[in-house]
Amino acid sequence: MINQILKQGAFSKKDLVRLLAADEEERKLVFAKAEEVKQKYVGNKVYYRGLIEFSNLCGKNCYYCGIRAGNKKAHRYEVTEQEVLEAARYAWENKFGSIVIQAGERSGSRYTQRMERIVRMIKQMSNGELGITLSLGEQSEETYRRWFEAGAHRYLLRIEVSNPKLYPKYHPENKKHIYQERLDALYRLRKVGYQVGTGVMIGLPFQTVEDLADDLLFFQKHDIDMIGMGPYIEHEETPMFKYKDKLIPKMERFYLSLKMVAVLRILMKDINIAATTAMQAIDPMGREKSIKVGANIIMPNLTPTKYREDYLLYEDKPCTDEDAEECKRCLEARIHMAGGQIGYGEWGDSKHFKNRS
Ligand code: 5AD
Ligand code: SF4
Ligand code: FES
Repeated sequence: MINQILKQGAFSKKDLVRLLAADEEERKLVFAKAEEVKQKYVGNKVYYRGLIEFSNLCGKNCYYCGIRAGNKKAHRYEVTEQEVLEAARYAWENKFGSIVIQAGERSGSRYTQRMERIVRMIKQMSNGELGITLSLGEQSEETYRRWFEAGAHRYLLRIEVSNPKLYPKYHPENKKHIYQERLDALYRLRKVGYQVGTGVMIGLPFQTVEDLADDLLFFQKHDIDMIGMGPYIEHEETPMFKYKDKLIPKMERFYLSLKMVAVLRILMKDINIAATTAMQAIDPMGREKSIKVGANIIMPNLTPTKYREDYLLYEDKPCTDEDAEECKRCLEARIHMAGGQIGYGEWGDSKHFKNRS
């Protein structure tokens, strides 16, 4: 049955649900197929995106997130421009190819102009060689355009959950958290010319395997270039913590996430898929396992160590005591263990983006 589905060239929602429901034996078949598709369409190279967690200041209040505005216990920080530049220089000198600047969502012209300046400075410092991905939330088309023109060329904005009916379960119902707005933002990014990345959380309370199959179909329908997704992990200082007893066990969440990565690789063969940090928050080998079954992007943490434990989106987030050098070495070893090869000095753009443009 599973084998029959895996031979197909196209997949219905029913097929996807069946693949995601694969048991321990069946999932080996799904993983093997995903490995094969990965080799054929994107090869075994894994590309680095050095991650700079620029700030945990956030104007939003997503119910699941540890750095939501409402968490008064979070100690707020912002990395200095000097430190961002140093981290970017480290990435450049170590041939990481690209960096990601991620932060809570903020607006205002002082902020957006400063970010624009930072992007410009990084581009200049690296002779235009370092690729820049931004992950700074929903912004106006004008802001997206200014950052694009400054040199950023990829943008990550997770839809978090593609079912508009579920969206209000995880977000306050106010004008800062509107599903349609978020979807529109993905379209603005695309219009401006970015390679567009999105993603979802897996194993949320109330979420079903059908919802997850719809998430995969959502990525396909919106012709997304890159995906980052991982298990939902509870955080004590958030409103969703009250559902902790309704969640599926962590290991199940992990394997469901791994199946999501594998099935997505089978469905969208030429996109970039990240081996996310949340995978490793559950399984110490989580990121290697993701690479094995289809992921081809990894984000070594470059955030100055003193800030790391304040960017705590969820519990057990790894790498909070390490520094850039340790994460680099650690990931090198991990990628080699997973049979991957690091694409040093390459941007490793989404092949899908090239194929569609
Ligand atoms: N568990 C897992 N992922 C989370 N994120 C935020 N909070 C959590 C959580 N509790 C993810 C969101 C966001 C990304 C930066 O981190 O998907 O887009
Ligand atoms: Fe802010 Fe992002 Fe956390 Fe939502 S998920 S509260 S937008 S940092
Ligand atoms: Fe950071 Fe392993 S990647 S310690």
